This record gives sequence, structure tokens and C-alpha cells, in this order.
Amino acid sequence: MNFSAVLNNVLADAFEKAGYDRSYGKVSVSNRPDLCEYQCNGAMAAAKTYHKAPIQIAEDVVKNLEGNAVFATAEAVKPGFINMNISTAFLSEYCQDMADKAHFGMELPKKKTIIVDYGGPNVAKPLHIGHLRSAIIGESIKRILKFMGNEVIGDTHLGDWGLQIGLIIEELKERKPELTYFDPNFTGAYPEEAPFTISELEAIYPAASAKSKEDPDFMERAHDNTLKLQSGDPACTAIWQHIIRVSVADLKKNYDNLNVSFELWKAESDAQPYIPDMIQSFKDQGIAYLSDGALVIDVAEETDKTEIPPCLVVKSDGASLYATTDLATIIWRMKDYHPDQMIYLADKRQDLHYTQFFRVARKAHMVEEDTKLNFIGFGTMNWKPFIRQPPQNPKKIRISWSVRMTIR
Ligand code: ARG
Repeated sequence: MNFSAVLNNVLADAFEKAGYDRSYGKVSVSNRPDLCEYQCNGAMAAAKTYHKAPIQIAEDVVKNLEGNAVFATAEAVKPGFINMNISTAFLSEYCQDMADKAHFGMELPKKKTIIVDYGGPNVAKPLHIGHLRSAIIGESIKRILKFMGNEVIGDTHLGDWGLQIGLIIEELKERKPELTYFDPNFTGAYPEEAPFTISELEAIYPAASAKSKEDPDFMERAHDNTLKLQSGDPACTAIWQHIIRVSVADLKKNYDNLNVSFELWKAESDAQPYIPDMIQSFKDQGIAYLSDGALVIDVAEETDKTEIPPCLVVKSDGASLYATTDLATIIWRMKDYHPDQMIYLADKRQDLHYTQFFRVARKAHMVEEDTKLNFIGFGTMNWKPFIRQPPQNPKKIRISWSVRMTIR
């Protein structure tokens, strides 16, 4: 019997013995931990029914708790609370019993295949502290689900297909224009060796990102590179492969240090082969339409409390977006693993993105009706990159986070 059921039972018996209905015997974790560990507010509720002072009822019940094995102390306090502390002997016996049983005595639910999408680092960008949360919470969820007997597959879903690659290519071109990748007449094989080290790479991205915000021409060239990569340009593809190789080797080291490991190191780009047919199928099903040159799908539902805008699936220049790769990723996941559930972990500010592409996935029948899609959004931390750039003065660092998670 689970712990709270044991506690409830003891209280229900005590209420019943005192002549009150068992249903009032509900125990909750104390909201005054300075006073007690557990509390029962049932006497207050019972007072109305029995036309008695709540403290009177609480005292009647407490009398019946004398000598019980579960609570070391039980006290009636005004206006009618029952404050309790657990007996250490009972606690140790209960824990020992759990430890002796397979799966801590838990009844295992039916085995499911579950993909947990967590970590979510972006190649070439240093890990942000938010990625630490995704890694740790995701790894914990994965281990718990595995412990419960499920087939669980963890996937990093590397961010390797977006604008950051185009930005890096552009910055690399400015720094090392002599590289063969930038010679339009070059027809030979590109070098095996990466044209940068991880430290250089991590300096390149922030520099490129800063430039793109100030220089619209630079940004446009970065967009062009991204588009070229997404359409299979050999030079962009060769640089992109180097970025991935250098980055992934470094990421693996970091995750190893955290004792986080992934069954799959798949990336956004692994979805690329499925994108053209997927887009065609959205069109064939009549759910996608052009809006200002971009292809969008309506996902608003009548019951929405806030406005859910259409999901953007292809940009007006033909480039894929975050939602495009996430949708196409569902295709290979269903084909290769046929999961009963897919759980995604990311910063909760990405909530809208998940709402939108989950709805598209259902609308376009990309998953079974009973395939569960969950987004676990965690709060933010306001301290930037971790691991590679230790703070100058660690005492000055304040990390704040919100512990609440939204689980849908
Ligand atoms: N790369 C993303 C980020 O840094 C997280 C990816 C989460 N997973 C996903 N399937 N969208 O925010």
C-alpha cells in the first residue's frame, strides 16, 4: 500500500471509531513543517455535518490515535487541525519493506515504448544552462520510465539544421576566405580535417550572431548559406559535417561528465529526407495553405483560451523551420520505433511551438489516435553558458530558476 494510503487508513479508522464518517480521515503533507510533518483537516469539514466544534472532533479522533504504530505524535490544535509526526520505527520498516521488494513493491503498468527527446543541444553553440536542465530532468524521467519496465529511447535531437549553421559559414568565410569551400571553381574533394577547433568554433558563432544583428547584408548571406545547406550544396554540406563532428565530440564529453547518455544521437537534419513528401502530404490533405508566401497550417481550436496562431511549416524562401524538422522527425520515429508516447523537454517558453506541431501531427494523421505527445516545459535560469566559460567570480553568480514544470 502506498505511503499516503497507509496514513489515510489510520486516520479513517480513528474517525470511524470516534463515530464520524471515514471519509474525513484524509492526511496531507503539513503546510507548517515547523510544527509537524503531516496534517489532517477533516475535523473542520466534519464540524458542519455533525454540528460540533471542530476542536472537539479533532480531540475525539486524536484519542483514537494513541498507541498506533504509524504516528509518533498526534495533536489536536485550534481551531481543529490534527498535527502529526511519523514514527521513525514505522518509517524505517516501511522503507526496508520497499527495498526488499522488486521495483520497490510498485505495481508495474503495461509496458510501453516511449521516446524521450531531451538535451537538445545546438551544434556549434556552447551549451546554455537551460540545456543542463533539459539533460538532467530528461535523464531522470528516462530512468524512472525505464525502471517502470518501459522500453525507453532517449534522443538528443541535435539542433544542426538552422540559421546558426548559415551564420557560422558566413563568419568562417570572412575569417578564412582562402579555404577551398569558398572557391566557386573548386571541384576536388574537400579536406578531411576540420577548418577550426572547438574553441575557434565557439568563438565563431557568437561573433557571427552579433554581426547578424547589426548588419542586414551579413544576415542575408547567412540565410542564403542555410538555404544552400538545406538544398544539398556540397561546400556548405562539407563545412556543416565538420561543425557536427567537432561539436558532437565535445558535447559527448560534457554529457559524460554529467552521467547523461542518449540511446540516439539523432539530429534535426535526420528529418530532412522526409520533409518534401511530408509537405506534399499536407497539401494533398488540403490542410496547408499559403500565407504571405509561407506555407501554414491552421491549428486553432474552439476551446482555446489564448489565440493559437497557424503553424508555419515552410518559410517564404523555402527554408525549413523548427516546426518543419520536429514534424518530419515524428515520421522516422513512428516508422522506426512506433512509440506509444513521445515526451519532449525544453524551456517552457517553447510551449506554443509544441502546441502547434503536436496539433499538426494529429491533424495530418502522422501519429496514431492514442499516441501520446507530451511537452515538459521547465523554467528558465538567468545565467548564461555553462561548462566552457567558468565565471570569473563564482560568488557573484546567482542562478535563479522556477521549479514549476508544465506537464501536458
Ligand atoms: N535545440 C533546441 C533548443 O536549444 C531544443 C530541442 C528540443 N527538442 C525538440 N524536438 N524540439 O532550444
